[in-house]
Amino acid sequence: MVTLRIVTDEGEVVLSVQKGANLRAVLLEHGFSPYTRFTRRLNCGGRGICATCGVWIEEAAPAPQHWHDKLADGFGYPRLSCQITLHEDMTIRLVADKWIWGGRDAERAAWFRRP
Ligand code: FES
Repeated sequence: MVTLRIVTDEGEVVLSVQKGANLRAVLLEHGFSPYTRFTRRLNCGGRGICATCGVWIEEAAPAPQHWHDKLADGFGYPRLSCQITLHEDMTIRLVADKWIWGGRDAERAAWFRRP
C-alpha cells in the first residue's frame, strides 16, 4: 500500500491505496475528479490524449513515461493523472483554476530546470 495525499481548496484527504494503482482511477473511485465540469464527460477516458485529467504533483513526482505526460512535465503543465502509476507515497493538488487543461507553471517546467 502507498499513501496518497490529495490537496484541494477545501483541505486535504489522505488515502491508503494499492501500490501500482492508476492515479486517475483512484481519484474517481474516491469521489475526486481531475476534470472540470466541462471535461467530466468530454475526455479520452484515460488514454493519454486529451490532457484534461491534469493534476499538480506536489511531492514524489514520478518521471513521466507517456509522451503526452512528458510534454506536460516538460513545459510545466499539470501532469496527466491517467498516465501516473502510484509506486510510492505521493502528494497531489487538484487544479482548481482550470477550464479545460489548466495553466502552465514555469517553475514546474522540468526541461528548463535540467542542466
Ligand atoms: S483522461 Fe485524457 S489524457 Fe488523461
